[in-house]
Amino acid sequence: MPEAEVAASGATTGSDPLWWRQSLVYQIYPRSFADANGDGIGDLRGVTSRIPYLTQLGVDAVWLSPFYPSALADGGYDVDDYRDVDPRIGTLRDFEQMVAALHAVGIRILIDIVPNHSSDRHAWFREALAGAPGSPARARYIFRDGRGADGSLPPDDLTSLFGGSAWERITEPHGTPGQWYFHFFAKEQPDFNWDNPEVHEDFLRTLRFWSDRGVDGFRVDVAHGLKKDMDAVERGGWTTDPEEVFAREGHPLWDRDDVHDVYAEWRRVFDEYDPPRMAVAETWVPLHRMTRYAAPEGLGQAFNFDLLKADFDAVQFRRIIDSSLDFATASGASTTWVLSNHDVVRHATRYGLPKGASRTGRGTDGVDWLFSGGDPAEVDAAAGLRRARAATLLMLALPGSAYIYQGEELGLQEVGQLPDAVRQDPIFHRNAGVEVGRDGCRVPLPWEPEGPSFGFGADGSHLPQPAWFRDYAVSTQDTDPASTLNFYRRALALRHDLQGAETLAWRASGSPDVLHFERPNGWQVVANFGTAPVPLPPGDVLVASSPLDGGVLPGETSVWLRS
Ligand code: BGC
Repeated sequence: MPEAEVAASGATTGSDPLWWRQSLVYQIYPRSFADANGDGIGDLRGVTSRIPYLTQLGVDAVWLSPFYPSALADGGYDVDDYRDVDPRIGTLRDFEQMVAALHAVGIRILIDIVPNHSSDRHAWFREALAGAPGSPARARYIFRDGRGADGSLPPDDLTSLFGGSAWERITEPHGTPGQWYFHFFAKEQPDFNWDNPEVHEDFLRTLRFWSDRGVDGFRVDVAHGLKKDMDAVERGGWTTDPEEVFAREGHPLWDRDDVHDVYAEWRRVFDEYDPPRMAVAETWVPLHRMTRYAAPEGLGQAFNFDLLKADFDAVQFRRIIDSSLDFATASGASTTWVLSNHDVVRHATRYGLPKGASRTGRGTDGVDWLFSGGDPAEVDAAAGLRRARAATLLMLALPGSAYIYQGEELGLQEVGQLPDAVRQDPIFHRNAGVEVGRDGCRVPLPWEPEGPSFGFGADGSHLPQPAWFRDYAVSTQDTDPASTLNFYRRALALRHDLQGAETLAWRASGSPDVLHFERPNGWQVVANFGTAPVPLPPGDVLVASSPLDGGVLPGETSVWLRS
């Protein structure tokens, strides 16, 4: 359908330009959410079919991880075509119907945009391979000659974030070994050259393409990575270890100031729409560097992963909440809260790992548990879930926007025991036997306690579900008032009453393990991170993360109270 013919929808979602400031956003990993056509891969019609579920859960918006055509070398973050839908997932028509159906019930939609790299099957990359060194087609990516007399050594020692060299050698059209291209992630994900105006223009076109189809906002993948000064790296003196690139401020490949010129251009496109399209930056940068990504003249909001990286610990939570609220004031954005997503071990499992448990994975910022599946034998699932519910209830009471990840509302645990043969994540494949990768949080959801793929689809699922998934099924939890699903539903319904002024006031809790604050509507929020029960402040209990026992707040439990 020509872009001009597509009417922007949004009739029932209203035109409040600041709708996103305190919204509850539910992340859908489309290939693992619901499979309507029974091919083992979740799809857009599956999402549409589950809109009643999303409505009952009480989400304000959904964020869809990539659904574009892709060879799935990196779970869809290797995009073949930014303006189309993977035929295994649906069609553009399915997408439009899904948007219309979401909007009809007042749910907004964000989509993932992946500007740092395309896939190696993208038309531009194919043209680059067919072109000559120095040609305009190669100038859309980062090609260099190799070192050594025959160019057989990579241009430098940079390593990929997913392991191995960050350079891949190509075969030139006439069949001889040729130039090298740069890929910060998998070799199937060549990095764009963001010094090329054509790249800028094409992404502006993509943003308009989806905005014209009613998309309300964008989650910007690796937002801090686009601009690179490769020559500075080649002159030497900079670390080539990606973990350090992440950690080192002022590195020529990462979080450069000129990346904000890109987002100033994007902002002009977002503001062409009414209401303006919103964006949230995925930025693994320190808080003080995050301000510009979240500024109103930039993307407007940025993911804050500090809470996700913290232990279940009152002191850490308190420090992060304070610094994040200060950050919100400095940037003009609302802050964001995240405990789980498709890149990290589910928090119900993370919090169940004993301190010092074997944590084999190294995260992108050096945090060692991030990509570790955890050894299932080491996980105390009951404690993990109890703590996860307590942390979640605290998070949901904070001013700002909360992002939750599909399955966390079921209390789902990480699938740590996937056989190597079925693992899909390039982090696993590029780090033979050292890192297990991120597949364990991407296993398709259990909708029913029985049947093939537990109601995910008609037959099978692209990642196998363990037998214990049946205990987490949606239909079982639906009718159990004490289930994690009904706990989330209750908290999300109540949360709308908290969406007034974006402030909180700390109250003395009487214990270093207990956090207590009051929101402007007068509600008290108390979180007991310790194991010993503490007295419950006076007030009517609105929701608690675990059953309460008389006038006390049990250990590892949070509560909202109305005085
Ligand atoms: C996404 C990952 C992906 C990477 C490369 C990340 O930030 O969240 O899932 O592997 O970007 O696109």
